[in-house]
Amino acid sequence: MSQASTTPVREVGSSTVVEGVEGVEAVDYRLGSSGAEQERLLAQCALLRPAAAALLDTIPLPPQAKALDLGCGPLGVLDLLSERVGPAGSVTGLDTDHRMIGWARESVAELGLDNVEVRHEALAPVSAAEAVYDLVHCRLLLINTTHPRRILGSMAAAVRPGGWVAVQEFDWATWQCDPPHPSWSRLKALLSEVFGGDVHIGARLPGLLSDAGLTDVRATAHAYYWRPGDRYQTLLLSFAHLFRDRLLEHAALTPGELDSLTGALREHLEQPGTTVRESLLVQAWARKP
Ligand SMILES: C[S@@+](CC[C@H](N)C(=O)[O-])C[C@H]1O[C@@H](n2cnc3c(N)ncnc32)[C@H](O)[C@@H]1O
Repeated sequence: MSQASTTPVREVGSSTVVEGVEGVEAVDYRLGSSGAEQERLLAQCALLRPAAAALLDTIPLPPQAKALDLGCGPLGVLDLLSERVGPAGSVTGLDTDHRMIGWARESVAELGLDNVEVRHEALAPVSAAEAVYDLVHCRLLLINTTHPRRILGSMAAAVRPGGWVAVQEFDWATWQCDPPHPSWSRLKALLSEVFGGDVHIGARLPGLLSDAGLTDVRATAHAYYWRPGDRYQTLLLSFAHLFRDRLLEHAALTPGELDSLTGALREHLEQPGTTVRESLLVQAWARKP
């Protein structure tokens, strides 16, 4: 792949600056890159693997296909793409966080994915893009950014005419507990304000793909249900922990109020009769004319 279709990143303090991509910084990804986040993302990869496999199976790829996973994290769908492009094809994983790229390299080595290369780079802006890929994919990248249209524009620009863009993002609208509880509603509303991106972006994917100039737009969705003991039963509480400082800074509540909110919710989620319906995983894919 030509270097012109990606753009280098450099570390400045705790932030990553992406050369030539105005406003694109790693601070966009507010969940961070701790060991706990690596473990969470790898577990999530396993959970979402069947849905991702089904999505990729609907996208016809030519022999020796070139595929890209943008914001691949510690694995993303690199393994699934590797299988689909075959030994003569190639897969590139890009991420703007160097720790994620280190973990992705470990995953690639452990899984023996000889046709996969991962790089600490960003996708080039539209003005510098080369349309070389048969498929450009991202998962849970747009929900974490404030500039999804710009990223989708770059993804579309990196695809050859006739190639595909595929996106998988959550929509928090369906993320509910049953029976309902006021602490759930309050915490979810507060978190959606500090999360950093549009937590309902899943619902917007078909329109965004269309606005990016893509055609034959298709979409489907997957839902997951949890009960006490399942790790995702308490994901909202995990997010409240990760975003604690930001919640206290931006929401009108004291540390004591936050603690009593999360305490009440934990108690409710631990009740044997409480179920959680996860955010809807929306998958959308479209073709470049
Ligand atoms: C929620 S993780 C998802 C990782 C992976 N796609 C998956 O589904 O497991 C989002 C990833 O996107 C990366 N990221 C954020 N902004 C990015 C950008 N502009 N370009 C490339 N990667 C980015 C983050 O560093 C992080 O690894």
